[in-house]
Amino acid sequence: MSKQIFVLNGPNLNLLGTREPEIYGVLKLEDIAIRLKEIAKDLGIKVDFRQSNHEGELVDWVHEAGEKKASIILNAGAYTHTSVALMDALMAVECDCIEVHLSNIFKREDFRHHSYVSKASIGIISGLGAKGYELALLALNDSIT
Ligand code: DQA
Repeated sequence: MSKQIFVLNGPNLNLLGTREPEIYGVLKLEDIAIRLKEIAKDLGIKVDFRQSNHEGELVDWVHEAGEKKASIILNAGAYTHTSVALMDALMAVECDCIEVHLSNIFKREDFRHHSYVSKASIGIISGLGAKGYELALLALNDSIT
């Protein structure tokens, strides 16, 4: 398997740091990207860290991960709960995917309890803040080395 991991972030995650910090924490997305790249470097993995507010762009990136035989860490933001298109894209490619959420979606509003992304993921890490991304990276590293 490939040692490339796409870390894909959905809508509004570009606002991390100032967006509802009591829920999402004070780290910026860029801080999370830097930390992940440091860990990835030590592990000899290439991390491609991206964010988009557009569903179709996220779908295109899942396809690209499929073409490159990369694994995926996905925080789809609100698209987690709405996007059949993203689920279908994940189902269509042969990529290991781990779903990550900064907040514990199961402790929050009912509409956040359902995830289309989960149906196409190996597992889900929710509620551990930025640490969730790191744990997902370690888990994918274990399955790809
Ligand atoms: C989120 C949880 C989603 O419900 C929400 O829409 C987000 C962020 C999280 O990381 O906790 O945008 O994915």
